[in-house]
Amino acid sequence: MDFYSLSTVLLVILITCLLAKYTRMKLEKAKLPPGPTPLPIIGTLYKINLNNVVHSLMELHKTYGDIFTIYEGHRPCVVLCGYKTIKETLIDKAEEFSGRAYYAGYHDYTKGDEIICGNGEKWKELRRFSQMTLANFGMGKRSIEERIKEEAGYLIELLRNKKGSPIDPKHQLHCSVSNVICSVMFGKRFEYQDEEFQNLIHCLQESFKTMSSAWGIIYNTYPGFMKYIPGPHKKLMKNYTLITDLIQKRVENNIKSLDSNNPRDFIDCFLIKIEKEEKKNSIYYNHTTLLMNTMSLIIAGTETVGNTLCYVFLLLLKHPNVAEKVYQEIDNVIGCRTPNYEDRLKMPYTEAFIHEVQRFADVAPLALPHELTKDTQIRNYKFREGTVFIPLLTSVHYEETQFNNPKHFNPNNFLDENGKFKKNNALISFSAGKRICPGISLAVMEIFLYVTTMLQNFTIKSHVSPEHISIAPVGVGLAHIPPNYEICFLPRSGSKE
Ligand code: HEM
Repeated sequence: MDFYSLSTVLLVILITCLLAKYTRMKLEKAKLPPGPTPLPIIGTLYKINLNNVVHSLMELHKTYGDIFTIYEGHRPCVVLCGYKTIKETLIDKAEEFSGRAYYAGYHDYTKGDEIICGNGEKWKELRRFSQMTLANFGMGKRSIEERIKEEAGYLIELLRNKKGSPIDPKHQLHCSVSNVICSVMFGKRFEYQDEEFQNLIHCLQESFKTMSSAWGIIYNTYPGFMKYIPGPHKKLMKNYTLITDLIQKRVENNIKSLDSNNPRDFIDCFLIKIEKEEKKNSIYYNHTTLLMNTMSLIIAGTETVGNTLCYVFLLLLKHPNVAEKVYQEIDNVIGCRTPNYEDRLKMPYTEAFIHEVQRFADVAPLALPHELTKDTQIRNYKFREGTVFIPLLTSVHYEETQFNNPKHFNPNNFLDENGKFKKNNALISFSAGKRICPGISLAVMEIFLYVTTMLQNFTIKSHVSPEHISIAPVGVGLAHIPPNYEICFLPRSGSKE
């Protein structure tokens, strides 16, 4: 066959395959919730602003209601909006909605051999183990609270040395919170200047940034194709390799000095578990799982908390009247001593402020995609096992029926008429159901202790007037990435030297 005939045959086969796939997609679409018409190859990508996927989904939510379907290429994804819908699905049918859908940007490296992209019994087991270990069962003598206080102390020292000059706090905040999770994982913190640590922070930030950019969306939609195309997404796998190499070195060190009766950190706990489980011929714990799972906890535990804290200080600069009230409460309740986590019980305004930051900043707007573990009916729709769902957390955090004037930042959303802290179930920044973030306790403790320790020590100032401070995120996708900004941390009189 000559070249011309061969090309014609290949083209006909390609067009036939595409038509067959498109026809199947059209038939499938009839059974799924409404949504824009998908096109061959691109699906409904033409309806999505790749630089602000959340905004596009919120617009589609206005058109199609609480449950609608979009297509990532040929893959249908059902978007869940509003508190009522999230409750009916992730919470009321928690087991059915507990699957994790394929998320190329991470799964392609870990193969689901860890807690974030894992599924089934292995995921359940790893999740249980990770949560138990993070909750301090058997992990040395130092509590997590102590580790956080120590790390916040190092940050204060570093900021004091800046002598009130303007800085972009992003890097320092991320280094500091990453050190908290590293101290839990590795038993030791890093010096901020440590080259290995700086590389780790760089990899974490770059990965989140890529996943929250147009490249991330396109990679997740066409992973097979994008593997051959140059672009920032190519760095994702390199970054993960660098992170697991760093963990590998730590694991080797831990093995040399492991004392099964005295685990010092998460890695020790995992190594001991591997030993025990090997005797039972368990398939859930092995060396690769240790590397992948440790990486997952470091990745998930750094950017989310770091970005939240960046928003904390940005919003305090933007709303000096709110800052004033937080300062007052810190001075009244804590004074000059080191803040404790239990102080929050006497600090309703600070608690309300932190909750409002979590709602408003909405740092993980799309959670991560879920997958049905069995056929399930929701309202009038019968969904098949394996259907992909995207919980649009933003639609809950900005829901008019759940929060007062949600587009405005206002800690009163979490205060009752007597000024007492008021919980609101529609704050789901950690998501909901069986996949709810397992790092909640660590995250809320970190945020409270960092906020109180930093404001106890510093008056914050900006050279930009509040009305000109921009709070618009610079990346929207996996995360809402806060903008860069400058802030001066001026030592407060009376604060500890
Ligand atoms: C403000 C801080 C944080 C926020 C807003 C946050 C939010 C989230 C969200 C929205 C999810 C997706 C849940 C879903 O699939 O529906 C998640 C998952 C996860 N988070 Fe967090 N997180 C935070 C801090 C942390 C910390 C400190 C850790 C580590 C200890 C952590 C570890 C994880 C892990 C391992 C998962 C995957 C859980 C699974 O698939 O079973 N997160 N988080």
